[in-house]
Amino acid sequence: TGYHAVASANANIALIKYWGKADEALIIPRMSSLSLTLADLETTTSVSFDRSGRRTGHDRLYIDDSEREGKALQRVSALLDVVRDMAGMDADAVVSSHNTMPYEAGLASSSSAFAALAAAASHAAGLQLDERELSRLARRGSGSACRSVYGGMALWHAGHDDASSYAEHIDCPLDLAIVVILVSGEQKKIPSREAMRRSVQTSALYDAWVRSGADDLEQALEAVKLGDVARLGAIVQSNSLGMHATMMTARPPVMYWLPGSVAALQAVDEVRQGGLNAWATMDAGPNVKVLTTQREAARVEHDLRAALPGFEVHSHVAGPGVRLRTT
Ligand code: DP6
Repeated sequence: TGYHAVASANANIALIKYWGKADEALIIPRMSSLSLTLADLETTTSVSFDRSGRRTGHDRLYIDDSEREGKALQRVSALLDVVRDMAGMDADAVVSSHNTMPYEAGLASSSSAFAALAAAASHAAGLQLDERELSRLARRGSGSACRSVYGGMALWHAGHDDASSYAEHIDCPLDLAIVVILVSGEQKKIPSREAMRRSVQTSALYDAWVRSGADDLEQALEAVKLGDVARLGAIVQSNSLGMHATMMTARPPVMYWLPGSVAALQAVDEVRQGGLNAWATMDAGPNVKVLTTQREAARVEHDLRAALPGFEVHSHVAGPGVRLRTT
């Protein structure tokens, strides 16, 4: 029909975190961030605009074949509104999204979802966006999604308005890998959006976190350039702990850690003391992600499994950026 498109995108994990917005409506972050897009954790989304009937104002959303309404639909419709505005079009859409995750992750990430939606919706609306424009559009759906436009490593420039806040690809001489330790697949109790807002508004540590984040990013980029994974890992681990410190000191506090998270963090330390690169990072949930190299990933995975019986452990190499699919 020409008003239909399908796109896939992979989830990314932040090495230097985005945590807190300067503009909530446009999703302009308080700090720049750095990420790695991962293989295997993929969302494929189709968008069809109905230009024949009259607009009812109701889009339809299916996630893994079950229809969704409420908040999930609202967020999707809000992004579709941006696309309809850009294209000067007024038509209802049907969106259908499938997550192909190799295991029940609790990593059902908004980063792959909104990157795929932005690509499929803009293409279905007849827009031809370049990567930067696509990154800015994906950002409007979920901040972290602007980084999933790119394969491998991506840097999201915080910027100060819609035009200046976008991600770009960063060349990385290191073959990095991420080993995911599944502590719990349960849904988080406090959405990251709310947790972020609470950290900005009430944590006494928040300003220090923004300052140290800028420093962390500079040093991380330097370590990447030098190909120094140990230096990068140490910064990545410390940056994640800083983010969790700001949420734990929010009022009321936000604590995503479970006892298993602490056990996993200790196991990561032990694996590293055994001479391997293994550096922990955590997001808005209890799972622990371990930065290592492709060369060491199988041994890190093996040692973590041995140290953490009963936990699922999976490793991921770097994955591709967003791509359109022909159907
Ligand atoms: C901890 O991108 O999900 O994963 O912009 O409100 O949709 P919204 O938030 P989201 O937050 C990601 C937070 C994080 C860190 C990161 O990915 O940088």
